[in-house]
Amino acid sequence: MNVLYAIFEASPFAKSGGLGDVGGALPEALRETGADARVIMPKHDSMPERYKSRIKRIFSFQMQLGWRTLYCGVEMLKYRGVVYYFIDNEQYFKRDSLYGYGDDAERAAFFCKAVLECLAHLERFKPQIIHCNDWHTSLIPVMLKEYFGDHPYYSDIKTVMTVHNLKYQGIISRHCLGDLLGMEGHVAARERLSWGDAINFLKGALHYADAITTVSPSYAEEIKTPYYGEGLDGVLRWREECLSGILNGIDYEIYSPSSDSLIPETYRSGEWEGKAANKRALQGELLLPLSPRTPLLAIVSRFTEQKGLDLVAHILEELLGSDDVQLAVLGTGDWRYEEMFYYFADRYPEKLAARISFDDRMAHRIYAGGDMLLMPSKFEPCGISQMIAMRYGMVPIVRETGGLRDTVTPYSDATGAGTGFGFMNYNAHELLFTIRKAVALYLDGPDGWRRIQDSAGAADFSWKASARQYVKLYEGLCRRKRQPLLTL
Ligand code: GLC
Repeated sequence: MNVLYAIFEASPFAKSGGLGDVGGALPEALRETGADARVIMPKHDSMPERYKSRIKRIFSFQMQLGWRTLYCGVEMLKYRGVVYYFIDNEQYFKRDSLYGYGDDAERAAFFCKAVLECLAHLERFKPQIIHCNDWHTSLIPVMLKEYFGDHPYYSDIKTVMTVHNLKYQGIISRHCLGDLLGMEGHVAARERLSWGDAINFLKGALHYADAITTVSPSYAEEIKTPYYGEGLDGVLRWREECLSGILNGIDYEIYSPSSDSLIPETYRSGEWEGKAANKRALQGELLLPLSPRTPLLAIVSRFTEQKGLDLVAHILEELLGSDDVQLAVLGTGDWRYEEMFYYFADRYPEKLAARISFDDRMAHRIYAGGDMLLMPSKFEPCGISQMIAMRYGMVPIVRETGGLRDTVTPYSDATGAGTGFGFMNYNAHELLFTIRKAVALYLDGPDGWRRIQDSAGAADFSWKASARQYVKLYEGLCRRKRQPLLTL
């Protein structure tokens, strides 16, 4: 099975969030099932020098994008057994950050076209499947059928579109349909991409891809409803036969407390006393009182509305004002949340420590030293931190939505079973009461707490199971004759 995995970020070359973790881990897991999975991604300028210096240029060509004639270089690097192809164009990818530019849609369109054009030049590798991820790659299924549909090399290639986050869709001016894509005259494409007065890249992929997946079964159901559908629930219901959810895993080579070189003291899963030294070191590093029995809560997150930080904003005063807890916060994002955490760190320096940065080392230290991880997300396609936390004996407190619902079994008073704590409604006081329930159990003595840690630590979130499900999906697609597109 030959799979080309197209993605905008893959760790350790580029990562802005969970997407980069998936890009860095799933292809390797696919290879372990016997598939020849290779990754294709932009050559971002921020790639660490140690990789940049090992990259080899394999070929280059000139490419049309609308009226533009553009240089496209293809470079290659083998890492942990996986071949990575990098698309090089300095105008588009020699930037400080991965995203956040006025021409992001143009950069994405360039990447998609480059992926398809370079295929025919690759020696000894022809993909049967192109697996696309999020809106940046979502023109691949569209262009494959619109530009290359009848071409003998391309006609039997199938596409999978994985939605990691439906909120980001790639919406741009309608004018770009002709200007960027040269598809003004493609009547069906115009309809399928159309989004009011604009065009929507992801909507296009949802129509054109042979299969659509999301990163958890619950999210796959949720996005068919208007509340979670971000305006695309209609298209998703229309294509529900092709829509499924496959849970992400975590990379156990990176996230294992017994071999983690970034934490002060390693410990084995189940031997949770090993966390004590890490907690002490973390409290010390964060300048919090060195108190072993004070529950140490943490938030490790991108600071966006999605992550439920509005609920946190509502209850922080009440929580920090009256409860004996500590809170470690790590992340960056919307300035209003950054300001909020600075404010509370200033007001309660003995209780809240905020590190407003993207700091991998600190994240590992928090997982190792912390007691509870807060993830009150408004929606969560999968979520990775809760799975890492569980592996490190840190108990997650989550809103039961999407992947959080699929990975955390809420604690039951009646049976004492569970792998974390959960609440249902997007309501600040439900969060507060759930935190208090967890804190009460923690303070009640080690037995009940240990039981939750043990069950959480025993959960299997390796990539193996996910990889097997993807391969099954790919095989099903390859057996199928290409389906005509559903007519609108
Ligand atoms: C996005 C989602 C997150 C998911 C990640 C990887 O960042 O918000 O829930 O875990 O993608 O699939």
